Amino acid sequence: MDATATAPRQAGNAQASFAGTLTDKLKEQFDAGLLSGQDLRADFTIEQPLERYTETDHAVWRKLYERQASMLRGRVCNEFLQGLSTLGMDKERVPSFAQLNETLMRATGWQVVAVPGLVPDAVFFEHLANRRFPASWWMRKPEQLDYLQEPDCFHDVFGHVPLLINPVFANYMEAYGKGGLKAASLGALDMLARLYWYTVEFGLIRTPEGLRIYGAGILSSQGESVYSLDSASPNRIGFDVRRIMRTRYRIDTFQKTYFVIDSFDQLFDATRPDFAPLYDELRAQPTLGAGDVAAADLVLNRGNREGWADSDDV
Ligand code: PHE
Ligand code: CO
Repeated sequence: MDATATAPRQAGNAQASFAGTLTDKLKEQFDAGLLSGQDLRADFTIEQPLERYTETDHAVWRKLYERQASMLRGRVCNEFLQGLSTLGMDKERVPSFAQLNETLMRATGWQVVAVPGLVPDAVFFEHLANRRFPASWWMRKPEQLDYLQEPDCFHDVFGHVPLLINPVFANYMEAYGKGGLKAASLGALDMLARLYWYTVEFGLIRTPEGLRIYGAGILSSQGESVYSLDSASPNRIGFDVRRIMRTRYRIDTFQKTYFVIDSFDQLFDATRPDFAPLYDELRAQPTLGAGDVAAADLVLNRGNREGWADSDDV
């Protein structure tokens, strides 16, 4: 299978291959004079440098927005569309975070903060725990419409921000941040990262109209928006916290398995219990490959594995 599009936001430290990305990104932006020592705050945020966006940046935003908005009709969950429209997200130009925040803060108390790129896990979790979503401020280049290794502004803002308007999802994200700080202290980030990956980034939801996308990694990607729902290749399996926390994932191809929730309430309720005993229990069990199907799985679609790369899962 060819490459996934926008690489999603870190979910914890499971992505060894992204190590160094932060410093690369920072160095690149320092060297280009886009960032000075004074601009970068201790929590890795900066003021969104609106004046730095070029007409090309705005054109890339417009192009991606247009493409995904039409692609996602009948594919994305209503809560996402509701979020887009409540936010009145700009179609034509890279949105001003301050402007988004006026609506977002009023709706759920969340805000978007600008960062240079991936930030350290503890910083990321601390932001989420305080209802701040760290978004890369920069836009991908025109030749990167379909593939990008790190999360850019389109992935972060178009992909992640609309659902933060939804009260239940907004609570889940805050709880995840708090859970991240705890998991870090318990040495369980690999397990918790899988949960982020298979929900926030690559989650599907079952609705009366059929399966719909809610994961940001899917919905900022034209190719995966189709593949995740329509392809016979991947598994589609009912959501199960324990199962997910044992399942490795793909960072360089489309996913081999998607996990399907029935509602955001299900997601929030299932993740409410204290994970500390769960981590102890799961640590003793073997992990599953990204494409494995287990005996206890609620299988909605057993993937035919067509086109699956045999490169390693993370
Ligand atoms: N309940 C989890 C814990 O005790 C926290 C959490 C909530 C983690 C939501 C992920 C998502 O660690
Ligand atoms: Co992401």
